[in-house]
Amino acid sequence: MPQERGYRMLGDPIPTSKGYQVQLERINYPSVIGEDMERVNVDVEIQTDERLRVRITDAVNERFAVPLDIESPPTQADNPLYDIDFTSSPSFGFKVTRKSSGAVIFDTTIGGLHMADQYLQFSTRLNSDNLYGFGEHEHHTLKHDMNWVTWPLWTRDHAVNTSANLYGQQPVYMNVEQDGSTHMVLILNANAADVTLMPAPALTYRTIGGELDLYFFLGPSPAEAVKQYLEAVGNPVMIPYWALGFQLCRWGYEDLADLQAAVERMRQYDIPHDIQYGDIDYMENRKDFTIDPEGWADLPEYVDQLKEEGTRFVIILDPAIANYDAPGAYPPLDNGNAMDIWVKDSNGQPIQGEVWVWPGEVFFPDYTNPDCEDWWRVECVDFKEVLDYDGLWIDMNEPANFVHGHADGCARNKWNNPIFVPNVVDGLVNKTICLDAQQEMGRFYDVHSLYGWTMAKQTLPLVHINNVKRGVVFSRSTFPGAGKWGQHWLGDNWADWSNLRWSVIGMLEFNWFGFPYTGADICGFIGTTTEEMCQRWQQLGAFYPFSRNHNGEGNPPQDPGMWPEVARVTRETLLIRYTLLPFLYTLHHHAHMQGDTVVRPLFFEFPAEPATLSLTDQFLWGSSFLVSPVLDQGTTSITAYFPDARWFSYYDGSEEPTRGSTTTLASPLDFINLHVRGGSVLPTQEPARSTMFSRSLPMGVIVALDDDGQASGDLFWDDGEALDTQESGTYLEVQYAVSGGSLVSTVVTNGYPGASELVLDDVRIFGAGPISSVMVNGVQHDAWEQDVGGTNAITMTEIGASLTNELTIEWS
Ligand code: NOJ
Repeated sequence: MPQERGYRMLGDPIPTSKGYQVQLERINYPSVIGEDMERVNVDVEIQTDERLRVRITDAVNERFAVPLDIESPPTQADNPLYDIDFTSSPSFGFKVTRKSSGAVIFDTTIGGLHMADQYLQFSTRLNSDNLYGFGEHEHHTLKHDMNWVTWPLWTRDHAVNTSANLYGQQPVYMNVEQDGSTHMVLILNANAADVTLMPAPALTYRTIGGELDLYFFLGPSPAEAVKQYLEAVGNPVMIPYWALGFQLCRWGYEDLADLQAAVERMRQYDIPHDIQYGDIDYMENRKDFTIDPEGWADLPEYVDQLKEEGTRFVIILDPAIANYDAPGAYPPLDNGNAMDIWVKDSNGQPIQGEVWVWPGEVFFPDYTNPDCEDWWRVECVDFKEVLDYDGLWIDMNEPANFVHGHADGCARNKWNNPIFVPNVVDGLVNKTICLDAQQEMGRFYDVHSLYGWTMAKQTLPLVHINNVKRGVVFSRSTFPGAGKWGQHWLGDNWADWSNLRWSVIGMLEFNWFGFPYTGADICGFIGTTTEEMCQRWQQLGAFYPFSRNHNGEGNPPQDPGMWPEVARVTRETLLIRYTLLPFLYTLHHHAHMQGDTVVRPLFFEFPAEPATLSLTDQFLWGSSFLVSPVLDQGTTSITAYFPDARWFSYYDGSEEPTRGSTTTLASPLDFINLHVRGGSVLPTQEPARSTMFSRSLPMGVIVALDDDGQASGDLFWDDGEALDTQESGTYLEVQYAVSGGSLVSTVVTNGYPGASELVLDDVRIFGAGPISSVMVNGVQHDAWEQDVGGTNAITMTEIGASLTNELTIEWS
């Protein structure tokens, strides 16, 4: 950076109880963009040994700061993993170094600190080009292309498309350093922004408001970095058990009979079906909290019937409220008017836009207004009396608006027309509200991308039935920390093989962002799928944490029952998913309690194997269950990488001969490759058509032995829906430890009474040599088989042990 640009330090860094304050003054040069900050403070907080905060903002004028509550300890941590150094020459910059390796992980001396009211920019050199993250976009690779690619950051309603800023704003990245250590950086800013990735490797971040509030999470493993990040912004909400079941949805059911026909196809082929959705079709003229009397009048009774059959019902709600009805005709409008909860234009009048309802306009609730919370609660609770939904799917909350800005256009001013516009698709007010609109929390210019965040926050308590049971909230728009309230699906994708492939990348990223309960619309939302694509997508989607087939309006039906073979394969694959639900639920519990990811890229578990760094055709559940789907048309074999560990086929327990390299695996049309990592114990349960039935069936474990004949794992189990079972201790936790031919289960917490009715019946053991006897709690057990001469997998049945008792199984 030329000497005459940027800032210089006013004296030395001033020690504070939390770290330092560095005071900067602007080097006197002609302003490029206007309204430069003359004095800037850099507040450094050594928050924890792993977490560093560097907040750069105007020293004189207060600016918008994202109200995300990240704990700021009063005193600095004792043994930080990092150092921070400042330089004033030729202009201000700072470097963050990882102490253990001496690696510089962040270095702004590459140039570019610019602090103007509507233009804030920094650049940093990166430790390596192993850069991941930033969202929400359709990324085609997990590891970023560093060749001058610019990614926009601004929430936006847009069909999935690689050049577009999509529904959420996730200004957070991960950098795997040259020695494999990993850190994450959150840029806590919600204004419109973009980030340019450069081959140096380096990045430049530019935003048009707020502050540069940077948080560093030092890991050093990728998993630890994510945990530290989520500890700061908030761990993901705990979902109910039933939410892990399979879900069917579409936009464009013609009427209730059409929806019922799709459900009947599920029943006909006996396909697991835990959740059915109602999209905007059920509404009268697409107005929230209404049911169309034409064709949908019987929906509430049908929802009750579905629930008795083990299928829950989730409805969509959009934020925008139709504003054209006469007083008395549409209570949500009357109540909202009376409570004055709409987003206002710069003259204090409700902003009018257009979303779905036709003809007519809408108002946008201001979810940052405390009165709005009351209004939204009343509307949602009242509607639940009419239609007994189990979850809320909050859509269009970027917020989307079909007229750009306002029905009458936007005034010309510095908010609607900033001098600099980041590289967002179609401009800032396109498909949303004018940026000079007002919310209680601030000007829309600053808070636009927090709309979905605040809506999700207000919605979660409303799905908690009677405040005792968990429900679910899916939010299309997200921001860091929103995972505490709602989880996320990947939006309006295309029925295209490329979208099937890229869905894995989105799912992995959203796990890091704090939304482990995620997945893409199976078989594609836009366009016409094919039987082969839909079958492959059902196979892959059976292993999305959020497993939902969803279709857009105007496309031919694509529920699995549309094709007998897709139905058969879907059923069989979902039965595997349901068999593994105790494992998947335990992983979600770990995500909720300690910020673990549920779905992981291979490099999370094998960072020392370079081949894993950009691998996304396969993924893991937790640390131990490897999914290797087919992602290409017309393919019946795949190239799969097996990291350096023992791997066993889920199906027959045969050991994969390949370790630390790739191999070709047969993958016929009705088959998906699934492998279990040696060293792990996976809890299982007999599957059924709904979790309502499966949850009481016999349980089991899969034991896959490592090179030393050892394995471990755990089970978290509760009633699957009570709130705060962890806090109240009403859960069961079992630890499994295997070594020397013996499996010992230890009951760590036995607080869930229902667990005593559960029986552990089946044990599969992969990787043992030939055996001749099995003992269960010291008594000889005869119900077992071994595939001698084949895979050597051992299958024990009829164990009949209560889950709440300690258990020892020995084999020799
Ligand atoms: C947009 C959502 O992304 C999509 O999933 C939904 O079906 C439509 N809105 C209609 O509600």
